[in-house]
Amino acid sequence: MFRDDLLRDQTILITGGGSGLGRAMAERCAGLEAAVAVVGRRPGPLEETADALRDGGGRAAWASCDVRDPQQLAAATERLEEELGPFTALVNNAAGNFLAPSEDLSANAFDTVVKIVLYGTFHATQLLGRRWIERRSGGVVLSILTPYAWMGSPFVLPSACAKAGVLALTRSLAIEWATYGIRLNAIAPGPFPTDGAFSRLMPPGMAEAAKRANPLGRFGEPAELADLAAFLLSPMAAYVNGECVTIDGGQWLKQGQEFGGFTDLPRDQVKATMAAMRPGKRG
Ligand code: COA
Repeated sequence: MFRDDLLRDQTILITGGGSGLGRAMAERCAGLEAAVAVVGRRPGPLEETADALRDGGGRAAWASCDVRDPQQLAAATERLEEELGPFTALVNNAAGNFLAPSEDLSANAFDTVVKIVLYGTFHATQLLGRRWIERRSGGVVLSILTPYAWMGSPFVLPSACAKAGVLALTRSLAIEWATYGIRLNAIAPGPFPTDGAFSRLMPPGMAEAAKRANPLGRFGEPAELADLAAFLLSPMAAYVNGECVTIDGGQWLKQGQEFGGFTDLPRDQVKATMAAMRPGKRG
């Protein structure tokens, strides 16, 4: 689909890049010839990811840091830039989330998720944005959201608030920093079966029903999201700015559509029901 060297000359920082969707994006970007740096809290998965990228012939590095702490992020990214060269792109992927009734959340629980998702994204974006402005190099930011960033969602309140903030950050800076050649976009994935997300967000025994409820009848494949990310990071998307692309099989639209529930029933039954309601056919 893409040219093999689509991301040549790019040096991409991926937060939370050691596992899940972050790792899938790291692999795809390295496969398209970008140099890739992954940061996160756990050294084990980061090292393993960077090793795998290098084994595949890519240029990769890792550093352990907590995105909630701007000083840690600054130190880690300085070391990584010494190793790989100046960053040209940032993927804000690091997240924290869990299911909980909002009335039971402690102040620290709310704080923790918002600090990882919203503050972490702000810290990383401002840090690289300042460097890009100073260097007059331009840059690309891609943030991983979720459709409930604009819909809201029960039982994941801190995440919903934080992701809504990241959407606002994306749209605000897309305009404010366009003059510096910096463009910002976002991806809003629906359900993708990664360990990190599903162990926290998919109760045991509910996966099959969740798949059936999706208009396409399945979950997303991490490689599908990684391809979308590669496109948005690449020069092919040079005129895409301030956009959020949803990749969820059509799930959020269905949830908001009054008659979307009909698609969960056998189509013959739906057709028979509707035919029976036609004027002149009612019993
Ligand atoms: N329900 C309610 N509260 C919870 C909770 C849950 N399932 N999990 C954690 N908390 C609360 C803790 O009790 C604590 O609050 P307290 O001090 O008032 O008791 C607060 O959240 C912070 O938890 P802690 O475990 O100390 O934070 P941490 O920084 O070590 O971990 C998390 C952050 C909680 C977000 C953890 O789930 C994590 O590390 N996640 C990273 C990966 C991830 O979430 N991926 C999913 C992406 S979709």
